[in-house]
Amino acid sequence: MENSAVTVAVRVRPLNSREKIENGQQVIFMDNHTTTIHHPDSKQSYSFTYDFSFCSFDKTDPNFASQQVVYEKLARPLLERAFEGFNTCLFAYGQTGSGKSYTMMGYGEEAGMTPRFCEELFSRVTNSQNKDVTCHLEMSYFEVYNEKIHDLLVVKDEQGQKRLPLRVREHPLFGPYVEDLSTNVVSSYADIQGWLELGNKQRATAATGMNDKSSRSHSVFTLVMTQTKTEFVEEEEHDHTITSRINLVDLAGSERCSSAQTSGDRLREGASINKSLLTLGKVISALSEQCQSRKKVFTPYRESVLTWLLKESLGGNSKTAMIATLSPAASNVEETLSTLRYARQARMIINVAKVNEDTNAKLIRELKAEVEKLRAAQMSSQGIEPEKMRLFQQEIAALKAQLTQQEREMAEAHRTWKEKLEQAEKRKREETKELQKAGITFKVDNRLPNLVNLNEDPQLSEMLLYMIKEGQTKVGKRKSESAHDIQLSGALIADEHCVISNVGGTVSITPIKDAKTFVNGNLVSKSTVLHHGDRVILGGDHYFRFNHPVEVHSGKRVSCWTQSGDGHKDFEYAKNELLAAQRAQLEAEIEKARVKAKEEMMQGIQVAKEMAQKELMDQKMLYENKIKALERELEEESERKRLQELNNQRVASKMEELQTAKTLLEQEVNLNKKRLHMEAQATRQAMADHDIRHAKILEALEAEKRKIAEDLEKMQQKMAQKEMHAPKNGSS
Ligand SMILES: Nc1ncnc2c1ncn2[C@@H]1O[C@H](COP(=O)(O)OP(=O)(O)OP(=O)(O)O)[C@@H](O)[C@H]1O
Ligand SMILES: [Mg+2]
Repeated sequence: MENSAVTVAVRVRPLNSREKIENGQQVIFMDNHTTTIHHPDSKQSYSFTYDFSFCSFDKTDPNFASQQVVYEKLARPLLERAFEGFNTCLFAYGQTGSGKSYTMMGYGEEAGMTPRFCEELFSRVTNSQNKDVTCHLEMSYFEVYNEKIHDLLVVKDEQGQKRLPLRVREHPLFGPYVEDLSTNVVSSYADIQGWLELGNKQRATAATGMNDKSSRSHSVFTLVMTQTKTEFVEEEEHDHTITSRINLVDLAGSERCSSAQTSGDRLREGASINKSLLTLGKVISALSEQCQSRKKVFTPYRESVLTWLLKESLGGNSKTAMIATLSPAASNVEETLSTLRYARQARMIINVAKVNEDTNAKLIRELKAEVEKLRAAQMSSQGIEPEKMRLFQQEIAALKAQLTQQEREMAEAHRTWKEKLEQAEKRKREETKELQKAGITFKVDNRLPNLVNLNEDPQLSEMLLYMIKEGQTKVGKRKSESAHDIQLSGALIADEHCVISNVGGTVSITPIKDAKTFVNGNLVSKSTVLHHGDRVILGGDHYFRFNHPVEVHSGKRVSCWTQSGDGHKDFEYAKNELLAAQRAQLEAEIEKARVKAKEEMMQGIQVAKEMAQKELMDQKMLYENKIKALERELEEESERKRLQELNNQRVASKMEELQTAKTLLEQEVNLNKKRLHMEAQATRQAMADHDIRHAKILEALEAEKRKIAEDLEKMQQKMAQKEMHAPKNGSS
């Protein structure tokens, strides 16, 4: 048993053509083990140290890390550990288009780590000097998409039905495994190549028409290596085995995960989240925390299919390496930074790996120890007790018996290996036949014209080749009873889609009814001749390039592709072409619709104008009539007015007359008034005079009266006085 930290490497790829067009600025720099990233906005630099920093940015750089360099530094040590009997795992992590598949699988001449690993493995096995070791290998290849496991090496099940997704099970001793996953015995590198080709063709077929599928799926390639060693105990031959499980994993593009992580809406979307990748992040962070704090931390392996399956590789019995792939461009800086941080975290994980030996090895060791003990006893003292001797020998005999039993079982197993190999061969032939039925060719007849598939994912482009034989090649929907030469799946593929005819080297395509068929971006409705390099799109999402070797050889047609063999670029070209053609068509349709609408509008306007005019006329007439009536009314009114005027005049003159009469009257009245007034005044004056006179008379009378009164008084006084003076008797 030994502790081993996860080996972490990062690799930066060259700028791609899009980044070059955008004048992509390089932001990743590597120096020995250190990777530095310059943030173009904040102008800050961040440095990270890893076990390896592979710079594959510029081929002319003396430190350029080629596919071979990456393989030698990262994968070869794992191969060595595998031969020692350890489980090993190598996985590639990084954003879409950063170079995971390029690093793991490779493209064309630039084979990646997986094929290099397998090739070296077999060359070591065959060249091995040690004839006492035999090596058996079994491989499986599956992908995890949307939390479902699909065997890439089996097309149909025993009943001839399309295989359902597989399930993960957990073995109490060996841990999680995929139930019913096909394992195929391989005895040479060519065998592996064959299966890989088959698996990748399956991926390509499944991914066609499914937007984005490939960069959202994880592909897991597994090799189980069983080495049987012969050892001698007491001159007797004994076998024991060591097993190692090798997982080579090409993960889904990482940004789908982080963007899903940040947005709550997308989290709820379910299908669009890569649960496995999300959980992988959680597992790595839990494991690194556990290794740092040395405390047990819950690790959510079971939350996703991928992490459950890679449980041992990530946090258990395995020698594990991770390669994080990076884009050098400034436009991806945020993604790159997050990948670098992820990788830094993974570097803290420490696994406990052990050699996987069978029980035989233990038995042999025990046997050897017993024999040694016996020998030592014999050597040291001759006087050893016979009883003890007997016990030793008994022990040895028992162990030998156990070993023989085990070996019998092993021999049985060995026999099954051979059977398994034969079975695998048979299965491969069947699977190949099955794929050929779907029109997929393995062996290329390089004189025949053909259609090659194009896919967004470079790894899946140019994987499928459909031959166009002399005569008619029929294309239609894939069905079990279908007899079409080329069978395609997808909702937009018609049961009978089109016919490709090859007559004397002239190839033409004819759509059946209105099945959507595009040639160089244009929708075709009748027979159209195909030339080398033409793009053919069937049903809107099956992209192909047409190859015509005879045309190329005769020089009739020069390939329109400057760089042949880059199906990925072809795909983009074909897609853009289709989009451009569709846009042009759409624009033409819009223009037509616009013109038509304008015409209709003009017509409408004309009708409306006429109607308006008629209405106007009617209204005019109505108004004129009304005006006439009004005029008449007016005339009558004015006549009436005139008469009234006359009347008025008459009244006025009468009034004037009256007024004059009134004035005269008034004058007269006034005059009379004045006279009256004067008369009144005169009367008043006369009255006043009279009054004065009267008063004077009165005064005189008054004065007379007073004088009389005074006289009277004076007389009375005189009388009185006389009386007083007269005698009192008598005559008073
Ligand atoms: N080191 C490299 N050198 C040259 N070209 C590279 C390198 N790495 C990647 N490329 C190119 O970049 C493109 C994208 O790479 P690749 O298909 O490996 O991305 P990926 O990480 O697998 O993406 P996805 O997540 O979508 O599967 C390919 O055309 C590939 O040839
Ligand atoms: Mg990929």
